[in-house]
Amino acid sequence: MKNTFGSSISVTLFGESHGEYIGACVDGLAPGLKIDIDFIKSQLALRRPVELISTTRIEEDEFSIVSGSFNGYTTGTPLTILIPNKDVKSADYDKNRFIARPGHADYTAYLKYHGFEDYRGGGHFSGRITAALVAVGAILISALKEKGIEIGTHISRLANVYDSNFSDYKKDFKEINSKYFATLSKEAEEKMKDKIIEASNNSDSVGGVLETVILGMPEGAGEPWFDSIESELSHILFSVPAVKGVEFGDGFKIADLLGSQANDSYEIKNGKVITKTNHNGGINGGISNGMPITVKTAIKPTPTIPKEQETVDFKNNKNTKIQSSGRHDPCIVPRARVVVDSVIAIALSDILTKRFGTDYLKGK
Ligand SMILES: Cc1cc2nc3c(=O)[nH]c(=O)nc-3n(C[C@H](O)[C@H](O)[C@H](O)COP(=O)(O)O)c2cc1C
Repeated sequence: MKNTFGSSISVTLFGESHGEYIGACVDGLAPGLKIDIDFIKSQLALRRPVELISTTRIEEDEFSIVSGSFNGYTTGTPLTILIPNKDVKSADYDKNRFIARPGHADYTAYLKYHGFEDYRGGGHFSGRITAALVAVGAILISALKEKGIEIGTHISRLANVYDSNFSDYKKDFKEINSKYFATLSKEAEEKMKDKIIEASNNSDSVGGVLETVILGMPEGAGEPWFDSIESELSHILFSVPAVKGVEFGDGFKIADLLGSQANDSYEIKNGKVITKTNHNGGINGGISNGMPITVKTAIKPTPTIPKEQETVDFKNNKNTKIQSSGRHDPCIVPRARVVVDSVIAIALSDILTKRFGTDYLKGK
C-alpha cells in the first residue's frame, strides 16, 4: 500500500507541507490505550526546530484527534490525528517550480504525478509529514512502556564528530529521551552544533547517524522471512525522508569479523538464556532473542542548500543552476531522532500485535 505501513496495526499518512492539514489514520489499535496529550505534545516539541541549528519555519503542531478516542482512551476504531499547517511561505517554491533541487524529490514527484503534485515545500515528500508519525508514535511509545519495552536513540555521530557510547541503557535513556539534541556527551554536543553552524554559514548542510537500542522486547516475536524484525524496522525507517542507511547489530562491520567473533555465544544467567555479546543486534532468523535490539540509521545532509548547484529545468529540458532559498534545516539529524523513535514504536507495535494479538498492547 502506497501510504500505509503495517498489517496488524496500520498507519496511513496524508497531507502536504503547505496544504491545510497533515495527519495520520491508525487502524488496529487495541481499545483502552491511554492518550497522554501532554506526552504527545512533548514528543512533537522534540521534532520542532530550534534557533540557529534548524529551519526558521516554526509550526506549533496543535493537533486534534478527530476519531478513535473517547474520554482519554482509544476506542479501538480508526484513530485520526490532524495537524494544521500554519507557517507556510509558498512563494519560495513557485519561483523554481520546474527546477529540480538536487537530492530532493521534485523531479521524481513530477515523474510519478505528472505535474499534478503539490510541489510547495516538497509537498507529500516533506519532512513536515513526520510530525504525524511522531504524534502516532507517542501513543505507541506509551503503550510499549506499559509492557516494559523502551526505546532510546542518540546522535552517535554527526559530521564526523562522535558521541560517547551507551554505558547504562536505562540511565542514558532517561537523559536523552527528553533532550532535543540527544547526545550522551556534552562535549560532543557542542562540537556537533559548531559543525552545523559552520555548514550553515557556508550555505551547506551536514548529516549523521542515529543509534537506537530497544530494551525489553519479548523473545520469539518476528517472522522468519519477509516480515522479519529487520525487514519491518528497515521498511519503516527507510520511509523516513533522508534516511539512506539502516544497520542492525554490528551492521556492515560484521562482514569483516570471523565467524567465531561474530557469533554471540549463549549462556544461562539467572535461569534465563542470554548471549554474552550482541553482534547480531538481538535478532536471529528475523526473530527476537531477548537481547537488546540495536539499530543504526544514517541520515543524509539536508538536500536543499543555499549553495549554488548544477541541475535541470525538467519542463524545458535545459541545464541550469539552482541556489535554493526558503527555510531549511542545515542538519536534519537532531529533529529526526524523535521521528526514528516514533517509527520504531509503530513497527514494534505491529510486530508484537501480529505475534500476540491486538489486545497485547492494552495495558493493565
Ligand atoms: C524531520 C525532517 C526534516 C527535514 N527537513 C528538510 C528540510 O528542511 N529541507 C530539505 O531539503 N529536506 C528536509 N528533509 C529531507 C527531505 O524531506 C528528503 O530528503 C526528501 O524528501 C527526499 O527524500 P530522500 O532523501 O529520502 O530521497 C527533512 C527530513 C526530515 C525527516
